[in-house]
Amino acid sequence: MLNIPTRRERNGWLAFGSITILLLTLSSLELTHETLNIALASTSLINWQIVMSKWRLYLVSPVVAILFVLLICWSVRNRLDKGPKQAIRRWRLTKQLRKAILLARYETSITHQNVKYAILPEIKIYFDDKKMDSGQVWIRSSTRDNIRLAKAEISPDIKGYKLEQSYISEDGDWHIYYIYSVHLQIQPKFDSLIEYVSWALDGVNDYQLKFDNRLITDLSNIEIIGATRSGKTYALLGLLIQMVNKELDYELYFADPKNGDWKNYGNYIAQDKVATEDNDICDLIDRVHSKMLQRQQIMNRELKSKASADYRDFKLDPIILVFDEYPSWHDSMSDEQDKSSKEKFKTAQKQLKRISQMGSGSGVFMILVFQKIDAQTLSKSIQSNMLLKIVLGNADNQTYITAIDRKEDVPQFIFGQGQGIYKNERMVKPRLLGFPYLRFIDDFNDHDYKTPKDMFKKISN
Ligand SMILES: Nc1ncnc2c1ncn2[C@@H]1O[C@H](COP(=O)(O)OP(=O)(O)OP(=O)(O)O)[C@@H](O)[C@H]1O
Ligand SMILES: [Mg+2]
Repeated sequence: MLNIPTRRERNGWLAFGSITILLLTLSSLELTHETLNIALASTSLINWQIVMSKWRLYLVSPVVAILFVLLICWSVRNRLDKGPKQAIRRWRLTKQLRKAILLARYETSITHQNVKYAILPEIKIYFDDKKMDSGQVWIRSSTRDNIRLAKAEISPDIKGYKLEQSYISEDGDWHIYYIYSVHLQIQPKFDSLIEYVSWALDGVNDYQLKFDNRLITDLSNIEIIGATRSGKTYALLGLLIQMVNKELDYELYFADPKNGDWKNYGNYIAQDKVATEDNDICDLIDRVHSKMLQRQQIMNRELKSKASADYRDFKLDPIILVFDEYPSWHDSMSDEQDKSSKEKFKTAQKQLKRISQMGSGSGVFMILVFQKIDAQTLSKSIQSNMLLKIVLGNADNQTYITAIDRKEDVPQFIFGQGQGIYKNERMVKPRLLGFPYLRFIDDFNDHDYKTPKDMFKKISN
């Protein structure tokens, strides 16, 4: 099969063959025209001489014309308008993929004027940005290739890149492969707080958060799951530093049933909005819930004069309930025998459910943190309103199934600290994510002149 050329190959051979013949003719004329002219002059029969300047024009012009056409075709195909570096990368990757498809015998062939040609599916490559660290490969599907392409593992054929996910396009015509560079630094590193803050605020509005070099999202209910020491608390720390540095005054509430880091961190930010005891956490949830109801009332009154709007149109500050180790509170409250505690727990759960369902319109959100998750820990209705799901580290099956439905969709990867996957409400399959490495944190622990409290001070610009 390999000896069947593709049309592009045939055209290439034709073009370069013609150029070679033209140039060979020219160089042999260059070498021999003087001798030939003398010979021609000595025969009185033909009164004709080779005028080299004319022949150079005759022979070089077609060469230039062919090269010009080739260049135009190449530039269009490889999107030279996006810059030469991208075009060359695109050309190289396409070539590797076409070769792989040919070798895997995914091609079809046609016979045209007694010559057999291999027909390869159309390939398009898009990069997410100038750095070309990630992008998409689109391969046109056909009835014949559909199943085979769906299973194709293109990683080995795209040198320097790995496959992250694959999809079928909405119209069903293309197989779309998300790829990322093996050098991709999704997880940035920062040596100083200022550096981190300026990265975090760059290209992000006041109602958005930046998670890594790729993921920026609007505020929403977020669920962070990961085994112990996978980097959950550290991830929250980074997000909180972003929040305190926004133009808006985020109103932050902290529930820390394990009496861990947030008791301290929360106190640095808002002393009166931190709870560690189970019953106090119920009260804290009640406060957040009341805030939401108040806002809804005000907004409803004003909405009568506006067609539709959310908290952003009213220029309201986001309110966020950060809940570290949610299952710890859930479990110990479920064990409570005391009637009033039971009542309190029931109310708190109802309130959490309402916040998850209706909070986002009025700017009230939750960030819940779990070591692992199953259907019992978090009610289905809350779970379905946690729009951004993040799983750090390599989690167990149950966690993946509860959080993102399918374990099979998780890209094969050994995750380091702060690394994992995310999936939001618009995605069918999860993608990779890496929370920044905040090297400066230790500075704030080790010195007298810098305390952890200083990390949460707004940096004025
Ligand atoms: N993004 C990251 N980059 C580099 N190192 C990290 C990152 N995230 C976490 N670490 C390292 O891992 C350690 C543990 O992280 P962290 O305390 O956030 O884990 P955790 O998931 O909250 O654990 P636990 O379940 O025990 O609370 C941190 O002290 C830090 O040294
Ligand atoms: Mg933690």
